[in-house]
Amino acid sequence: MAGRPGRRGRGGPVTEVRLEAARRVDGEVTVPGDKSISHRALLLGAIACGRSFLGNLSPAADVASTAGCLAACGAWLRLFDDGKWVLDGAGVGRTLRSPEADLDCGNSGTTMRLLSGLLAGHPLEAVLDGDASLRRRPMRRVAVPLELMGAAVEPSPGGTAPLRVRGRFPLRPVVYELPVASAQLKSAVLLAGLAADGPTTVVEPAPSRDHTERLLRLCEVPVAVEGGRITVTPAPLQPFGLRVPGDLSSAAFLLALAATRPGWRVRCPGVTLNPGRTGVLEVLRAMGAQVSVEPGPEAGGVEPVGDVEVRGAPLRAVTIAGDLIPRLIDELPVLAVLATQAEGTTVIRDAAELRAKESDRIALVAAGLRALGAECEEAPDGLAVHGPVRLRAAALDAGGDHRLAMAWAVAACLAADGGVTIIRGAECVAVSYPRFFEDLGGLTTG
Ligand code: S3P
Repeated sequence: MAGRPGRRGRGGPVTEVRLEAARRVDGEVTVPGDKSISHRALLLGAIACGRSFLGNLSPAADVASTAGCLAACGAWLRLFDDGKWVLDGAGVGRTLRSPEADLDCGNSGTTMRLLSGLLAGHPLEAVLDGDASLRRRPMRRVAVPLELMGAAVEPSPGGTAPLRVRGRFPLRPVVYELPVASAQLKSAVLLAGLAADGPTTVVEPAPSRDHTERLLRLCEVPVAVEGGRITVTPAPLQPFGLRVPGDLSSAAFLLALAATRPGWRVRCPGVTLNPGRTGVLEVLRAMGAQVSVEPGPEAGGVEPVGDVEVRGAPLRAVTIAGDLIPRLIDELPVLAVLATQAEGTTVIRDAAELRAKESDRIALVAAGLRALGAECEEAPDGLAVHGPVRLRAAALDAGGDHRLAMAWAVAACLAADGGVTIIRGAECVAVSYPRFFEDLGGLTTG
């Protein structure tokens, strides 16, 4: 059936998904809990002074990596049958101890970077490791500020994982200017700052998602923001309750698909509307799609949440650059697919960070788009995509990157030649959105 996956394991863990074009896309999907917020809720709940309760935590493999690493460091956390997590913490600098074995961060850069910051402020020693993709990603960027604060943090000679952390309590407070607009790096320094004996300031070159800052406030830790300067003043973390909102970055694939054709529509209720995440909605609107957002009550009184609906329209090309980039960094692969359907040349620049994600997303997106019949040019920091084109079905590889697997699925739904698109290694969607293919199938009519 069009738009629905046919799955075939091929003598190993690699799953091939086959998709035909969709004739129609219409419906509502409740996407899983937000991955970025879930990581932080676990990390803060683990070290708060008492019992915290979390609901609707992301089912992503990345979040399971964070939970597993915390448990290996002696944190007390339990998942109950009703999907609720309970955590019991004993305070910063006191809760965590040296794990018996290397910590497995799996595919998750967020786990490795944020956890390094948290572990740096505990008197322990740990080695953080991950899969082949994570072992290629830059880790010196976290080692530098954590060393300034007094922890010993050693990446392997290439500046990558495995990463050895020898923490201590307390750390020295710092004022640290981030060399890249990275929420992961910012969060690592803020989390280490909780264990410092004075206020720590991080200076951001451009605003990025501020979930860490918001959840720290939920824990009653003072966080002051002035321009690009964020200052955390250490205080005992109060335990908290939080229902995690839906993940806009997961919803983005379905919403972007709806945007491509007049008459198509997708609604995703209860997703995060953190301003560091909503760049994708601004771009969909600028391309001509009808985007409606109904704000609801904030999650935990700190995280904006709402229902988002996108209706398709003839699309026009846009330029995506500058301060917008950190606010939609994970959505760029699917926006590049969308650009193939827009009138004109869409330009993505200032996005060199894309090369340091789960894969080199500039190179692999460009190669995939060409295989689908689109014309595009690669630049060191982005991509130019010419549209509109009638995409043709192709055999594509996810390259071990969950966001590429989902972007290719969106492209498959748009193929205009009646063919079947094959996505190899599609099982990696479990890194962020395990039910992605089921949810996509529920929206499409072939
Ligand atoms: C994330 C921040 C982003 C994003 C990643 C999740 C986070 O990375 O790409 O998927 O939860 O802080 P950078 O901050 O390193 O760009």
